[in-house]
Amino acid sequence: MLKSRWTYYLVFLACLMPLGYLAWMWPQVRINRIEYVARFTGDWTIGFLMASLAITPLRRIPWLNGLIAFRRTIGLFAFFYGLLHAFHYYQFDVQWNWDIMKEDLTIRRFFIAGMAALLLMLPLAVTSTNWAIRKMDGKRWQNLHRLAYLAGIAGVAHYLWQGKAATMYPLIYALLLTLLLGVRVMLYIQKSRRQMSVR
Ligand code: HEM
Repeated sequence: MLKSRWTYYLVFLACLMPLGYLAWMWPQVRINRIEYVARFTGDWTIGFLMASLAITPLRRIPWLNGLIAFRRTIGLFAFFYGLLHAFHYYQFDVQWNWDIMKEDLTIRRFFIAGMAALLLMLPLAVTSTNWAIRKMDGKRWQNLHRLAYLAGIAGVAHYLWQGKAATMYPLIYALLLTLLLGVRVMLYIQKSRRQMSVR
């Protein structure tokens, strides 16, 4: 079922739903619209990024193996919402004021981490085409795509450094990321042990 073409279209459509919802809400939000959009797009960027990272361990569960078919799409949507999030900030909040941009990106760790997360996702998006996967050898491609974890760390740091102590969500994401990294390390250790015992 997970491998059917229709499921793929459904997932693609589901990934577009936040954008549709935002377009629908846009004229209705009249107070603090800039903050509303920044938070909405930020939440979906981190959500998609975490979902794409979660697929790697989840696909080990036999009946969830088909999830792998959606990893690339979900990862690309993380980048898309991240771009929208950053573009919206620069266009509507900062209005491309170079002095503010420079100050943000040199002295404010919150913005430095956000930009780092976005830039770390860029090579992943660029090399996600079938052509790039064919051109790069499997090992190199896999190593490059581990940058997704660094993007996750930078994204969570950005969220934590937002400085709104009243919300638990950044901590929940930090916990989830730690769990995903932990599983990854465990799988790596297991694999190395298996290889050692074969030799
Ligand atoms: C150039 C890159 C980025 C810029 C300039 C930027 C800027 C911002 C701004 C201005 C806010 C709103 C802060 C507030 O209302 O107090 C925000 C919030 C947020 N951003 Fe970013 N961001 C960037 C990249 C990212 C990336 C790549 C992610 C995810 C991986 C991300 C995730 C978030 C989250 C989760 C929030 C908090 C949303 C909430 O409060 O519910 N941001 N960001």
